[in-house]
Amino acid sequence: MMPDTRHLRSYGRTKARTLKPRQAGLVVTLLPHLAVPAEGRIDVDALFSSPPPCGEGAGGGGREACSASVTDTLHPDRPPSQPSPTRGEGSQRNILEIGFGGGEHLVAQAGAHSGARFIGAEPFLNGVASCLRHIEDSGIQNLRLHMGDARDILARLPDASLDLIYILFPDPWPKTRHHKRRLIQPDFIAELARVLKPGGEVRFATDWADYAAWTLELFMRDPRFTWTAERAEDWRRSWPGHVATRYEQKRLGDCAPIWLRFAKA
Ligand SMILES: C[S@@+](CC[C@H](N)C(=O)[O-])C[C@H]1O[C@@H](n2cnc3c(N)ncnc32)[C@H](O)[C@@H]1O
Repeated sequence: MMPDTRHLRSYGRTKARTLKPRQAGLVVTLLPHLAVPAEGRIDVDALFSSPPPCGEGAGGGGREACSASVTDTLHPDRPPSQPSPTRGEGSQRNILEIGFGGGEHLVAQAGAHSGARFIGAEPFLNGVASCLRHIEDSGIQNLRLHMGDARDILARLPDASLDLIYILFPDPWPKTRHHKRRLIQPDFIAELARVLKPGGEVRFATDWADYAAWTLELFMRDPRFTWTAERAEDWRRSWPGHVATRYEQKRLGDCAPIWLRFAKA
C-alpha cells in the first residue's frame, strides 16, 4: 500500500531572485484579475465570465473587462480589447496545466486555442511573474492562474469539469527517499480522474526514465485511465501542436523526453 503523501511538498523553492520591476508590477496589477479565487468550489464558467473583485474604481465591468482594462492601460497603442471570445459559453474545452514553470507552453497554447479556457497552477513566484509577462506581451484573455499547489485547486474543481490536463517535466525527485514527493501518486491520479470529463486526457512528459515508468505503472493501476500509445513512436514523439518547455530544452534528465497520454474513460 502506498503511503498518504498529500501533505508533502512536491515542489522546491517558491521564489528565487528578486523580481524585475516590470514583473513585480504585474504581480500587483495583473495577477489579482487573473487569479483563481483562493477558497471555495471553483465554477469554471464563473471564473471566465462573472465579475471579479476588481477593486475600487474598476467600474464593475467584470473579470474580462478588468483584465482588458489592465491590458489597455498597459498597451495604450493597441486597439481596445474586445470582450473575450470565451464569455458566456459553457461548452468550451477547459484545460489545466500543472507546474507551468515560466508559462511559455501555457501562454503559447492559450494563444493558439483562443476558444478554449486555460488554468495554470504554479507555486514558484518567479515562474508566475514570468508567465504574467508572457500574458501581457501576447494580450491573451483566456487564461487564469493559481499561484500555489495545483492539488489545492484540483480539490475544489467539480467532477468532470476539465477536458485536458498537462503535466510537463514535473520535478523528478530522483532519489528513492524522495519518491514520496513526486506529484504523481495514486491519490493524485484519482483526483485527476474525478475532475476530467469522460473522454478527457492527461498529457505527461518527463526526461527521467524512472519517473516515466513510475507514472505509467500508477496510471495503469487506475481502471479509469487507458494509455493511448499504440507504437513506440507514440511515446518517443511529442503530440501534434506541442510547444517546447523551458525544462524540456534544458535536457537535465537521464533520457530523451518520454510523452505519455492517458485517456479517461
Ligand atoms: C521541473 S519544473 C518544469 C516546469 C515546466 N513545466 C517546464 O517544463 O519548463 C516543475 C515545476 O512544477 C512545479 N510544481 C511542483 N509541484 C507542483 C504542484 N503541486 N502544483 C503546481 N506546480 C507544481 C514546480 O514549482 C516547478 O516550477
